[in-house]
Amino acid sequence: MTGTDSPDKGGRHDIRRLPASAARILMLQVDDIQLAFGGVKALSGVSVHAEKGKITSVIGPNGAGKTSLFNVISGFYTPQAGRVTLDGEDISVMKPHARAYRGMSRTFQNIALFHGMSVLDNIKLGAHTNLKSGILSAGFGLPLTRREERELDRDIQRDIVGLLELDHVQHHYVEDLAYGLQKRVELARALVMKPKILLLDEPVAGMNSEEKREMSRFVLGVRKDWNTTVLLIEHDMSMVMSISDHVVVLSFGKPIASGNPDQVRANPDVIKAYLGTADEPVQNAA
Ligand SMILES: Nc1ncnc2c1ncn2[C@@H]1O[C@H](COP(=O)(O)OP(=O)(O)OP(=O)(O)O)[C@@H](O)[C@H]1O
Ligand SMILES: [Mg+2]
Repeated sequence: MTGTDSPDKGGRHDIRRLPASAARILMLQVDDIQLAFGGVKALSGVSVHAEKGKITSVIGPNGAGKTSLFNVISGFYTPQAGRVTLDGEDISVMKPHARAYRGMSRTFQNIALFHGMSVLDNIKLGAHTNLKSGILSAGFGLPLTRREERELDRDIQRDIVGLLELDHVQHHYVEDLAYGLQKRVELARALVMKPKILLLDEPVAGMNSEEKREMSRFVLGVRKDWNTTVLLIEHDMSMVMSISDHVVVLSFGKPIASGNPDQVRANPDVIKAYLGTADEPVQNAA
């Protein structure tokens, strides 16, 4: 992962200058994104490169632009400038569903499950789309035949329900589940299409420490078993620092640091962005 390191003089990053070997190991290249809402500059010159099979985290204080960046990467927002490349293919102008079909999957900052449906049925929706608005606006894919549906059930039970330890609740209504389990169902749904890259927006927000530890274990498990590339947004610094291979820091829509967890933790600009002072190391900026 190269993240925001090695900017050129203008603080910009040009993927064309990366050696061919770097392009081969990068699953996602996000280059020099500019995104504004009216007068509000949500992202300025943001570049993030996620290496295949690695966990890359995007951190930063509230309003730093993290979710906006995910919305640009997944095609929900169209930036004024910049480029998004997935596994070597320029996907900058593709719609969200086309990006999903190419192997991009995400979870959302707020729980987006369908009440009145079982855990298994909620997970199955991930096969139709992983758009927030759900199956009705999927815009692609025909209803599944019964045989396809049975095969899908079988695949989910074999590959995902066990991996995420959801066996005991798979037939329960999602709204009856504890919060931590609901977030796990969202992760399961995001995995149905066997994504090349998984974008997780605050997967442990609102969880207790036990639930956070479990979620970290599951994210690591997915990476280990499927070699999935993970891009993680999280305020929980203990999770970020313990599972990330690389960390990119945004503040007020701009990249201010990147590196391995130890480098980022000790970076005075990062400490200042979180605490307003460079006197203390970053501990848990949740
Ligand atoms: N659809 C939108 N319309 C207008 N402004 C927006 C929109 N989406 C995001 N913004 C603005 O962009 C900035 C970055 O917001 P964003 O949600 O990306 O931050 P964040 O880093 O995810 O914050 P948090 O940690 O609180 O989730 C904020 O000023 C926000 O108000
Ligand atoms: Mg956010």
